[in-house]
Amino acid sequence: MKNMTIIYWSATGNTEAMALALEEGAKKAGVSVKLLEVGNASKEEVLKADAVALGCPSMGAEELEEEEMEPFIASLEVENLKGKPMLLFGSYDWGDGQWMREWTERMTKLGVLLMEDGLIIQNTPDEDGLNKCREIGEKFASI
Ligand SMILES: Cc1cc2nc3c(=O)[nH]c(=O)nc-3n(C[C@H](O)[C@H](O)[C@H](O)COP(=O)(O)O)c2cc1C
Repeated sequence: MKNMTIIYWSATGNTEAMALALEEGAKKAGVSVKLLEVGNASKEEVLKADAVALGCPSMGAEELEEEEMEPFIASLEVENLKGKPMLLFGSYDWGDGQWMREWTERMTKLGVLLMEDGLIIQNTPDEDGLNKCREIGEKFASI
């Protein structure tokens, strides 16, 4: 893999911290990483990247954030993403990860190559959580 794009939405910085740790790990694997907030991203970034990590916390009632992330994901659903290596990640609080299960199911339908289960961390990632993100970032970049 040569290049990876990480696109995320984050209100209070928890998912952003995960994104930064994923980036760190991926860079360790020697790939070039582009990190973008979803508001600054276009779906072409997804189409042209060798691999994509998408991050969004659980919002609404176990939903993706509705103003930016939901429309962005919906815009990907009309594209051919078969075989695209993809990693989903995000922070949550009181739920049980339902938003990630549903998001995973949705992306699976597109035929993407999902890396493991979605990477979820409750609230602010601690050092262990950040290390997990770094490890997964490195592993994902090494596929
Ligand atoms: C409006 C709103 C709705 C939320 N809904 C859920 C939810 O349904 N389930 C859950 O586990 N956490 C929910 N949360 C908690 C966030 O997912 C959690 O605070 C997360 O760490 C925020 O990530 P961020 O710092 O990247 O924005 C909600 C938070 C807000 C502000």
